[in-house]
Amino acid sequence: MDNQWYKTAVIYELYIKAFQDSSRDGRGDFAGLTSRLDYLKDLGIDCIWMLPTYPSPGRDDGYDVMDYNSINPEYGSLRDFIVFLDEAHKRGIKVLIELVLNHTSDRHPWFVEAKKGPQSKFHDYYVWSDTSDKYSKARVIFTDSEQSNWAWCAECQKYYWHRFYYHQPDLNFDNPAVREEMKKIISFWLDLGVDGFRADAVPYLFEREGTNCENLAETHDYLKELRKMIDDNYKDRVLLAEANQWPEDLLPYFGSGDEFHMAFNFPLMPRMFMALKQEHHGPIVDIINRMPKIPDSCQWVIFLRNHDELTLEMCTDEERDYMYSQYAYDAQMKINVGIRRRLAPLVENDRRKIELLYALLFTLPGSPVIYYGDEIGMGDNIYLGDRNGVRTPMQWDENKNSGFSDCKPSMLYAPVITDPEYNYNAVNVNAQLANPHSLLNFVKKMISARKLYNNSLIFGCGEIIFLYPENKKILVFIRRYKDDVVLCSFNLSDTPQPVAIDLKEYEGYEPIEIFGNTKFPSIGALPYLLTHSPYGCYLFYLKKHR
Ligand code: NOJ
Repeated sequence: MDNQWYKTAVIYELYIKAFQDSSRDGRGDFAGLTSRLDYLKDLGIDCIWMLPTYPSPGRDDGYDVMDYNSINPEYGSLRDFIVFLDEAHKRGIKVLIELVLNHTSDRHPWFVEAKKGPQSKFHDYYVWSDTSDKYSKARVIFTDSEQSNWAWCAECQKYYWHRFYYHQPDLNFDNPAVREEMKKIISFWLDLGVDGFRADAVPYLFEREGTNCENLAETHDYLKELRKMIDDNYKDRVLLAEANQWPEDLLPYFGSGDEFHMAFNFPLMPRMFMALKQEHHGPIVDIINRMPKIPDSCQWVIFLRNHDELTLEMCTDEERDYMYSQYAYDAQMKINVGIRRRLAPLVENDRRKIELLYALLFTLPGSPVIYYGDEIGMGDNIYLGDRNGVRTPMQWDENKNSGFSDCKPSMLYAPVITDPEYNYNAVNVNAQLANPHSLLNFVKKMISARKLYNNSLIFGCGEIIFLYPENKKILVFIRRYKDDVVLCSFNLSDTPQPVAIDLKEYEGYEPIEIFGNTKFPSIGALPYLLTHSPYGCYLFYLKKHR
C-alpha cells in the first residue's frame, strides 16, 4: 500500500490567491500558504490540490496559462514555491498541482508566434481552419459566453479551435512537438518534487471529424504515454483526471491501471444533492451501482463542491431541471450548465444537511475532496460574475479582511463575505476552533474517524455493498475491507425515521458506534432496528464476536 497513498488520502482543494496574503497586496501567496500549513495539518488532510499558479492574464482564473515553467509573480517566486513544497512534505502533506494540457492563454508566447502564420514554427501548435464548420458535432462547454468552438484570428486570417473561452486556444496534440512540450513541463515540476497533477480538461485533447471530439482513442493513447513517462522516471507520483463524463466513458481513463491513478466521480456529485432533496436513496444507489469496477491500483475522487459551478452535465434533462428548480431558484445562481453556489448556501445553511453530506463524502467509495472554506461553511457571493462567487478570501478570523490580508479592503482581489448569515465576523476558523461543536470540529472529527480502526483502508479500498431497507428515505451500506466491516446508515429526510436492516450475514457481530465507541446491541437473526433523527447518520464498526 505504501505507494498507493492516494487511495486513502483526504484531499484539500485551495486557491493560492484566496488562502493567505503575506505581502499585503490583496492576493494570497506562497509565503501566506506556508504559514497556514499547520492549520491544514491539524485539520487532518493528506494532500493539497492547488489550483493553477502559473503566470496568467487571469481571464479564467489561471487556467489560461502564459508560461508553464514558472510561478505567477503575484503569488511569489519559484523559490517560495519550493519552500512551501518542502514545508508541506515535512508535515507529511502531498501536493498536487494543475496540468493544463488542452489549451493555453492567447497570450502564451506560442500563440503569439503561431498567429503570425504558417511560416511560424509555432503555427502548428494550435488547431486552425479556414472555415468554422469543422468538428460541428463537438458541443460548446461555456454555453453562457461562447457560441462556437471556433474563433476568428484577424492576424492570420483563420479560425482557431477552443473548447473553453475564446481566449484559450486549444493545443494541437497531433503535433509531436506539442506532445513533447507537455512531457518537458511535467518533468520540470516532478523534478522539483510535486507529488502529481490534476490534469485539466483531458477528454478534449484530440479532434476528429464526425465525432464529438471527446474521449477519443488518440487521447487515451497519449495520456498512457504520459503515464509511462512518469512511471519510468519517477516514484510515487500520481495523475488525477478531470473528465466530466458518464460512468462508461470514465472507465477508459484508468486504462488497465496504466493511465490515470484517479478520476473525479462527476456523476455521483449532483446525485448526493438530489437524494437529499428527494429524501430518497435511489439517486445515490443507482449511480454507484452503475459505476464500473476500476483497476485495483486506481481510485475515485469524490467531492461535494469545487471551484467551478456545481456541474449538471452528467444529469438527464429531467434531473437537471429538477436540480435547477431546487437549488438555483434565482437566475443569478445559474452559470453555464450548473449552479454557482457553495455548500452551505446550497442547503440553506442547515447544519444537519451539511453534516450528512460530509458523512456521505467520507464514507462513499473514493478519496474525498474538501473545498477550502467549506469546512467552516463559508457563504458565497453570486453577484461577482463568472464562478468568482465561490472563490472569495478564506475567513480566518474576525479581524480586518477576515484575517486573510492586511491590505486596504479595496485592494482585495475579491470582497470578503459580509452578508449577515455568513459574515466573516462569525463564520471563521478562529471562532470555530474555539467551539467544540463547530462545523470545523465536526469535519476534523470525521477525518479522524476515517482513520480509526483501519478505516482509511475500509473507506479508501473497501468494497461497498448496498442494503435495501423498505424505508427508502434511509440509505444503508456496508463498507468491507478484508475482515473489517463498517455499517453506514443515513436518514435523508427531514423527519425521524425507523429502519429495519437485514444483517443476517453479520449475526453475532457487535456494532460499535464510531464516534462514541459505544457498544450497541448485538446483531441477531431478525432485522436490525435503528431509529434515525432527521438527517441523522450512524457509522458502526461491526466487531466479530469471538
Ligand atoms: C476546468 C476547470 O476546473 C475550470 O475552472 C476551467 O475554466 C476549465 N477547465 C478550462 O480550463
